[in-house]
Amino acid sequence: IPVEPFDLVIFGGTGDLARRKILPALFRRFCAGQMPHEARIIGAARSRHGADEYKATVRAAIVEFVGGNEAQSDALEGFVDRIDYVTVDARGTDGWAELAGKMRDGCVRAFYFSVAPALFGDLAERIHHHGIATEQSRIVVEKPFGNDLATARALNDTLAEHFDEGQIYRIDHYLGKETVQNLMAIRFGNMLFEPLWNSQYVDHIQITVAETVGVGGRGEYYDKAGAMRDMMQNHLMQLLCLIAMEPPAKFDPDAVRDEKLKVIRALDAVEPHHIVRGQYQALDGEHPGYREAAGNPRSSTESYIALKAHISNWRWAGTPFYLRTGKRLVARSSVISVVFKDAPHSIFGAEAGRHANVLSIRLQPNEGITLQVTIKEPGPGGMRLVDVPLDMTFAEALGPEGGDPPDAYERLIMDVIRGNQTLFMRGDEVEAAWAWADPMIAGWTARGEVPKPYESGSVGPDHAEQLLRRDGRAWRGIKP
Ligand code: BG6
Repeated sequence: IPVEPFDLVIFGGTGDLARRKILPALFRRFCAGQMPHEARIIGAARSRHGADEYKATVRAAIVEFVGGNEAQSDALEGFVDRIDYVTVDARGTDGWAELAGKMRDGCVRAFYFSVAPALFGDLAERIHHHGIATEQSRIVVEKPFGNDLATARALNDTLAEHFDEGQIYRIDHYLGKETVQNLMAIRFGNMLFEPLWNSQYVDHIQITVAETVGVGGRGEYYDKAGAMRDMMQNHLMQLLCLIAMEPPAKFDPDAVRDEKLKVIRALDAVEPHHIVRGQYQALDGEHPGYREAAGNPRSSTESYIALKAHISNWRWAGTPFYLRTGKRLVARSSVISVVFKDAPHSIFGAEAGRHANVLSIRLQPNEGITLQVTIKEPGPGGMRLVDVPLDMTFAEALGPEGGDPPDAYERLIMDVIRGNQTLFMRGDEVEAAWAWADPMIAGWTARGEVPKPYESGSVGPDHAEQLLRRDGRAWRGIKP
């Protein structure tokens, strides 16, 4: 179903994010027939060039990042017809009157701030000053949303000077992933799981987001952030919220976000000895180690973090949540495992051993769920038990109609146009997540801690294994 006609202005329209993610996502939605004829995308940046040059940039970006036949077809020209460009100076006066002149009445107006956060205030102020925004206009901002609680608050305050919370769309692209939304469908669309979803039946929960990539060309940004700010405070926090929150009364923006906020606010401070930070080392001289990649030979920034979190509320008191994420690990794999408690009494005696059900939700790749169940080992030799997987891959279960899952940005940008904030972070959520992360960062900085080295291509530092071993538990494998 096509969305309403819109004018989408992409500030930073020539930048990396626009070329890699935003424009390809818009193109795919165009191909899917979701973009009405009147939709227009206006690139806005400092570079002085005309609309035709920008159209060439857009074409090149689509060919590079969408590729295939799609990008060569007439569709590409149809899409490019909707593209326009304005040279604007975010900190000056150039271009604003021209941009104002391009805005059409009766269309949704959306402004994507695909620029450094330091410019958010300038953009918001100028959009307002030049009367470019209406009350229904929306702005979209990307992470990093602040570097700590103080900077996040300052950003929220800056944006709030010119826009209401209902107009601000803070992107965490993990929320746009099909399988992340599926967490809510699995939990709240089935009767099977929710009655068991609490500390009485769940021994612990693991959230792993493992990446094989290193910091690549983003060393300068990453070295100031590290895995805590880059992944844990936002993406893993969102996963934790969706897995732990109470059922919202409705699938609507504030109902969902209120419940997520309650989870973040119920998190205990994490003990220093429940945090393991790691830094990847070079592999056979082939791939550079973290410090080399980051261009900082003495860096003590973590490219890996594992921690044990506790949620102090009725549902989860006493159930640990083990979270880990890192770069240059053995496989790309994002999985949430809900490990249930052992049966309270074994009628088969001690010989049958210990068995626990585990529900693993694979977010990427090979999206699907596996439920580990205990059955009888075949054979006449008595009642021996064995754990086997009840396995479902979404692609197989849904068949060809399931199609390829759309990229997270496709869903999120269309939600901006539709005016649906459910999958976007509210300001108080972001602040609460920083309030949880800040003391950990301050703690290891004050103690002068250096991350533990780990081999590229491994599962991370051994200390992270010990974090669970101490509790008589083990990480579920990161499958290659
Ligand atoms: C980004 C981080 O937000 O998420 C990157 O800045 C990380 O460091 C990326 O690689 C992971 O996203 P995805 O979609 O590849 O899991």
